[in-house]
Amino acid sequence: MVKIAPSILSADYTELIRQVQLAEKGGADLFHIDVMDGHFVPNITVGPVIVHAMRRCTKRPLDVHLMIEHPERMIKPFADAGADIITVHVEAAHDVRKTIRLIEDEGKSPGVVINPPTSFEKAVPFLSDIDLLLIMTVNPGSAGQKFMPEVLPKIKEAKGYISRENAGVELEVDGGINMQTASKVTSAGADILVAGSAIFGGNIAQRVRNLRKVAEGQGI
Ligand code: DX5
Ligand code: ZN
Repeated sequence: MVKIAPSILSADYTELIRQVQLAEKGGADLFHIDVMDGHFVPNITVGPVIVHAMRRCTKRPLDVHLMIEHPERMIKPFADAGADIITVHVEAAHDVRKTIRLIEDEGKSPGVVINPPTSFEKAVPFLSDIDLLLIMTVNPGSAGQKFMPEVLPKIKEAKGYISRENAGVELEVDGGINMQTASKVTSAGADILVAGSAIFGGNIAQRVRNLRKVAEGQGI
């Protein structure tokens, strides 16, 4: 079954609890939190304080996507704040294997992220050590960007490899996922769909339900 991970980057922070509860009511499986440091990407978003607040809003897993240059310095603060999954970019300035180990040592699920121009091969050396591979379907930095269909073959390639090798790694996609693109990524093999602007705004619970339906190939 497909999992839906609303990205709170597009939520209204003046009513975060209510919006998170509505997304949960619609069947959100986990929540995606986008952390940006103004270096790895130009934008700056949220830190452990918001993860801590989210931890008190929901019992669903918190999936923390670190778009930061030195993720190794921030693993403990995010783990202490209540993250369940922590994903780090292979393009950032760190020893990826060591950072994965830091996440494991904190008792959390490690994942790696690859940007649209980065090949799947760059993630292969880490597959035996991670629970989740996040394939970006936009260049990271902001919500509301257009889905990049040229990433679809990479999603298929990753899914094929993970299935063949029985790697036990969930495949997550992030960026531009909406009612038009959801079925394309699930047909290509995505297990977890992150969506920000397609969920927050309007009827949040209904949007989660509808996104799941189209992702699973049903009409709404
Ligand atoms: C992009 C972030 C995404 C973003 C998705 O840098 O990693 O998680 O919030 O937003 P939408 O779904 O609007 O593309
Ligand atoms: Zn993200």
